[in-house]
Amino acid sequence: MNAPITAAAAPQSAPARDLSAFWMPFTDNRYFKAHPRLLASADGMYYRTPEGRAVLDATSGLWCVNAGHNRRPIVEAIQRQAAVMDFAPTFQLGHPLPFELAERLSRLLPAGMDRIFFTNSGSESADTALKMALAYHRARGEPGRLRLIGRQRGYHGTNFGGTSVGGIGGNRRGFAAQVWGVDHLGHTHGAAPAFSRGVTAVNTDLAGELEDLVALHGPETIAAVMVEPVAGSTGVLVPPAGYLQRLREITRKHGILLIFDEVITGFGRLGAATGAEFFGVTPDILTLAKGLTNGAAPMGAVAASRAVHDAIVEGAPPGIEFFHGYTYSGHPLSSAAGLACLQLYADEGLFGRAAALAPLWEAAAHSLADARHVIDVRNLGLVAGIELEPRPGAPGARAMDAFRRCFDDGLLIRVTGDIIALSPPLIVEEAQIHEMFGRLGQILKDVE
Ligand SMILES: Cc1ncc(COP(=O)(O)O)c(C=O)c1O
Repeated sequence: MNAPITAAAAPQSAPARDLSAFWMPFTDNRYFKAHPRLLASADGMYYRTPEGRAVLDATSGLWCVNAGHNRRPIVEAIQRQAAVMDFAPTFQLGHPLPFELAERLSRLLPAGMDRIFFTNSGSESADTALKMALAYHRARGEPGRLRLIGRQRGYHGTNFGGTSVGGIGGNRRGFAAQVWGVDHLGHTHGAAPAFSRGVTAVNTDLAGELEDLVALHGPETIAAVMVEPVAGSTGVLVPPAGYLQRLREITRKHGILLIFDEVITGFGRLGAATGAEFFGVTPDILTLAKGLTNGAAPMGAVAASRAVHDAIVEGAPPGIEFFHGYTYSGHPLSSAAGLACLQLYADEGLFGRAAALAPLWEAAAHSLADARHVIDVRNLGLVAGIELEPRPGAPGARAMDAFRRCFDDGLLIRVTGDIIALSPPLIVEEAQIHEMFGRLGQILKDVE
């Protein structure tokens, strides 16, 4: 751990500035610019505001700072690499770091998922994975397999493929043009009773819906099914027991590829390296980002099974096998950050730490069961979803009010609709877990 943050480390006052030029992502720009909430520095479990006020981070930034903020080994690795080689192309050229990182990363993934394509974000990973699935079927002589199946309330980022396969109405409706041939399974929210703990046995076969879509479209038209093992961005939706196993069974039976979007569940969030490991289900393609560099440099990755990789690469005529890639795939600074980050996870045993803390986390989360406005609490690993009853006629307003009050009180939470999603850095201390839920419960008393 870094030395504790000191007030002297952070700027003492916010410079007055015009905020209008930065068009902020997924933000109520007009409200924000009238009521800005700014961050100036970070260390360990805390952010600091420009005024020097500490903010306890219960969301790992945006689900990405799994090892805590500004960790020295990662900071220094980036600094060192920036001084050695700023950029190197990876189209028809190489440098050692992404090769080393791919090899190192593959050791954390299910056996055989050891062909790694680098991207710069979760959204790029999602679209890369979908293109891989299409290329795989084409390479194997089934070019008619073009349909992509996602899930309602799925989130796979904001590029065209991920937006289409994702199942968030608000993200899709504003952009009428969508990728062709996409269909969706139902979501799993509400399958288990409210206030369920962890994974629950539920007496319905939700994954069996995939058989209905196969019957509707014909298996020979379906390329892939993409799901998050635990849907994060739409409010911590934990799948029922056996759900992912059943998806695996059905996809395998029909020659459909299974893609796990592990942008959130990767790197220890559930107490294992991946959701695939946690649930004991191996997909054909697995997407990662966020925790790959601890959020310290933009980077994503797509891991493909040997079968997927070999069909596309080994089966191709001489020349470029996969016409896809990004200028910054395997960027030197991101690769250096990734290597230092994976080493840090191993040195500090952070995935095991998350697993060990999970029971305490669960108990602390469910202590909010009787808190004002709370209609559900659910949890897995070091993730919790606390669902509030919406204000009549104003969905999302109550949770947003809680978010703003928490920030002003020195606690960073994340809200999606009326669901509060908590996912702290895996270095969180027991006392900080109690503090997070205790303060949240207090603040909810003041929220109308
Ligand atoms: C499951 C999942 N996939 C993809 C993404 C998109 O990642 P990015 O914002 O890095 O593009 C996210 C982001 O939260 C995510 O949770």
